[in-house]
Order: sequence, then structure tokens, then C-alpha cells
Amino acid sequence: MYIKPAHIILMLAALSQGGKGAQLSPDVQTLCDDFWQWRLQDMPEFATFVGFHAYNDRLDDLSMEAYENRLNKVYEFLGRVDFLAPTLTEHEDIVNMKVLRDELTTFIEGYQYKNFYLALNNKEGIQVDLVARTLSWMPLVTVADYNTMLARLQAVPTQVTQIIQLLSAGVEANITNHELSMNKVPSQLEEFLVITPEESPIYKQFFSEFPANFTPDDVAAIQASAKAVISDSVIPAFEELHAYVSLQYVTRPDIAITSLPNGQALYAQIIKFHAGLEKTPEEIQQVGFNEVARIEALMQEIVYELGYNMSTQNFSNMILNDPANFYTTEEDLLNGFRYVVYNVTTPAVPLIFKNIPSAEIM
Ligand SMILES: *[C@@H]1O[C@H](CO)[C@@H](O)[C@H](O)[C@H]1NC(C)=O
Ligand SMILES: *[C@@H]1O[C@H](CO)[C@@H](O)[C@H](O)[C@H]1NC(C)=O
Ligand SMILES: *[C@@H]1O[C@H](CO)[C@@H](O)[C@H](O)[C@H]1NC(C)=O
Ligand SMILES: *[C@@H]1O[C@H](CO)[C@@H](O)[C@H](O)[C@H]1NC(C)=O
Repeated sequence: MYIKPAHIILMLAALSQGGKGAQLSPDVQTLCDDFWQWRLQDMPEFATFVGFHAYNDRLDDLSMEAYENRLNKVYEFLGRVDFLAPTLTEHEDIVNMKVLRDELTTFIEGYQYKNFYLALNNKEGIQVDLVARTLSWMPLVTVADYNTMLARLQAVPTQVTQIIQLLSAGVEANITNHELSMNKVPSQLEEFLVITPEESPIYKQFFSEFPANFTPDDVAAIQASAKAVISDSVIPAFEELHAYVSLQYVTRPDIAITSLPNGQALYAQIIKFHAGLEKTPEEIQQVGFNEVARIEALMQEIVYELGYNMSTQNFSNMILNDPANFYTTEEDLLNGFRYVVYNVTTPAVPLIFKNIPSAEIM
């Protein structure tokens, strides 16, 4: 749930498409299909991402009401899963319902933490997703495709208003990002705050070149509409968001996710979401410590094999401080690299790869 809910369920998509010869019973297939169709319709940006283009004229509805409806719908699907599951006997059916149930309960369990209030950060949000993802994934082949993109751009102000409402609700509830996750957002938004629409990254990327079969009239009409929607809708919306993020949004003081309300439980939930494990952060960290110890023991063996009676740390210090391990001239350095490239790496490539590029390494 730390990721946009749109990312749930890729796997189910694959399952519900039937997989390799997997035949589901009709009730299970219907439930998977209904769920998938709902996902596409409910999250049109996700639909675009998976190559389903019927909802390309819309953006995701990020209103509070939409999130509540989404939760209710997920409960409804869960009810259907729980009704169907006890009647199933086929392995494929049982597995599919288990996976769907897990996805649904993950959404429900995560919902209470309201992490959708964290609607923007340096890596995610409309200011980074719109051009690089959502619009880039849309086909632009026909005039209708362009009109679809223009319609989607018309929806930017509505979504921006919803984002500001989510961020504000987060400030009220102390569910906010840390400054380190937000510090690039204002400058990312500034890329859209241009004087003329032709300077907009949206215009430059999507409305400056057209398929060769478009008539000059097609192009002129699309460009006129693009300029209008960018000037009248997109730029003002991004200005508003920029002002909100720069002047009003309050970042959280502590960096740890546990500093959010109900933070320990939230952290456990995030682990469950990402790792699929019911483990505490301490247990997960211990896995890391154990791995470091295991690898270090292997390194230690090598140190002994080389005839040194010292710790790996001391061995490492020794190597780093031994002038014999350093090149002294530029020519030596280059020859050393040439040796590695041509005498060590090149002969080893066919041992690992089947299709070897014929170009020489330069
Ligand atoms: C948010 O944090 C402030 C300061 O710690 C506190 O006074 C306030 O009660 C908190 N609000 C909520 C809704 O938890
Ligand atoms: C390795 O060094 C330790 C002291 O650091 C010493 O007690 C031990 O006898 C040494 N082992 C060998 C094989 O030299
Ligand atoms: C590592 O080096 C330090 C001094 O540089 C020495 O005191 C220590 O005994 C060494 N330990 C091992 C295990 O080699
Ligand atoms: C590296 O390989 C080249 C032939 O490709 C050979 O002439 C050269 O002597 C080798 N260098 C070393 C250091 O083995």
C-alpha cells in the first residue's frame, strides 16, 4: 500500500488471462474477469500502463470519495472470494482465489494507514508520472489518439485539486512525507511553469511531431487545442500545486516511517506488503546481519587460505594501504585495464553468453 494502489494486481492480470493452459472453473474465471475489468476502469492510468487503452481519456480519480468506493468494492470482491473459495476443488482455482484474497486483504489492511495521503514525493506523483509514464504509454497514431490525449490533459486540474485535498488531509492527520522525500518536488513542478505552451515539456514531447499521414489542418487543429489545454488547464493547475507544496505543505519532522501515526503497526504492514512476510523489522534486519556474517566467514576463509592470520577488515586495510597494489604511471594503469579487458574478460564472455557481439571493445 505504500505504492499507489494502481500497482496491485499485475500478477492477477496474468492469472486471469488464463496463463499457460490453466483452465479456471467458470465462477472463478468470472470473478477474476470482473475484478480485472474493475481495476482497469477504476485506475485508467494503470489500464494505460498494461496496454488497455479504452480509458486513455481519463486520469485516476484520487478523490476521498473514490478511495472510499474503492475500499467498499474491495470488500465486495472479498465477499465473493470467501463465498466461492470453500466450494473449490481444483488446484488452479484454489491458488487463484488465494492470490486474489491476499491482494484484497493487503489493500484492506493497508487502507487504515491512509498512505494515499502521501500523494507526491520526489519519485512518484503527477509531476514525474504525467510525461514520463502516463502520456508516454499512450499510442499516438491517429487523430483520435491525439484527441484522447487532449481529453486526458483536460482532467489534470481535477486531479491536481484531488492531490491537494489528499496532501491537506495528510497534514491534518500527521500523515506527511519527510522533507528529504519532497525536496525535489517544487523544482519538478517548475518544469511545467512555462510562459508559452510551446515551452511545456508536454507540448515539446507530444505535440511537436506528427505522423506523416496527418494533413496540415489536422496538425494545426491539434496544436491549437494542445496550446489551449496547456495554457488554460495544465499550467494553472501545476502553479496551484507548486504553491501548495512550496508554501503550505508541512513535512514531518522525523525521518523514520515509525514516526507516522500508529507507526510500528504501519511499518509491519509495509513489510507485509513488500516482503509478503509476517515478520518484525528486527527479524528482517537479523536476516541481513546473518547474511553479512555468512559472507564474511567465506571472506575470512580466503584470507586464511592466502596465508594471512588477520581479520577481513585488517586484510582489506592492508590491501588498500599496500603501494604494490597501485599503478604508478598512466601507462601502467592503461595496460592494467587492457589486460583485464582483453586477456581476462574477453576470453570469459563465451563461457557465460551464447550470442557474442562482434564489435571490438574499444
Ligand atoms: C499531529 O501532531 C501534533 C504535534 O505532535 C499533535 O498536536 C496533533 O494532535 C496531531 N494530530 C493528529 C490528528 O494526530
Ligand atoms: C593467529 O593470530 C592469533 C592472535 O591474533 C594467534 O593467537 C594465533 O595463534 C595465530 N594463528 C596462527 C595459525 O598463526
Ligand atoms: C587488526 O589490526 C589491529 C592494528 O592495526 C590489531 O590491533 C588487531 O589485533 C588486528 N586484528 C586482527 C584480527 O588481525
Ligand atoms: C594479452 O593478450 C594478447 C593477445 O590478445 C597478448 O599479446 C598479450 O601478451 C597478453 N598479455 C598478457 C599480459 O598476458
